[in-house]
Amino acid sequence: MALLPILHYPDPRLHTCATPIKTVGATIRQLAADMAETMYAAPGIGLAATQVNQHVRMVVIDVSDDKSQLLTFINPELIEKSGECEGEEGCLSVPGIYETVKRASHIVVRALNVGGDEFVLAADDLLAVCIQHEMDHLDGKVFVEYLSRLKQTRIKAKLVKQSRETF
Ligand code: NI
Repeated sequence: MALLPILHYPDPRLHTCATPIKTVGATIRQLAADMAETMYAAPGIGLAATQVNQHVRMVVIDVSDDKSQLLTFINPELIEKSGECEGEEGCLSVPGIYETVKRASHIVVRALNVGGDEFVLAADDLLAVCIQHEMDHLDGKVFVEYLSRLKQTRIKAKLVKQSRETF
């Protein structure tokens, strides 16, 4: 297992649209395991392959308190969404920034698991929000893009400044 470096906004690679995974084999399972380890170490509740500069359609999520409910979604597709909720979101690629985003409160997602088997999952509230946030990453979308231009500009400036101070 290995910890993977996480891309930080406004890295243009975060805007890459990921490609579907054709074969769920050893390479993908290794990436899934490394992504989970990276997410837990961060610590975070979700991570998309895009964020570790691997542009394939896979996300890992665990919204439990005790790291006991790891979910891996390969080629996820939203097949239903309804309701509306507003909650504060953060992102491992946008460290230190928390902003309110409007999302569907209920979704149904279809995906493959690490065994390559299809599953369908209905999710509400935090899990639903997290799945939508991570699936956006696969389409090259970062949550700050839901905010006003002005806020996006401020966040960009803040993160650029932070990265200069760190490196
Ligand atoms: Ni994110």
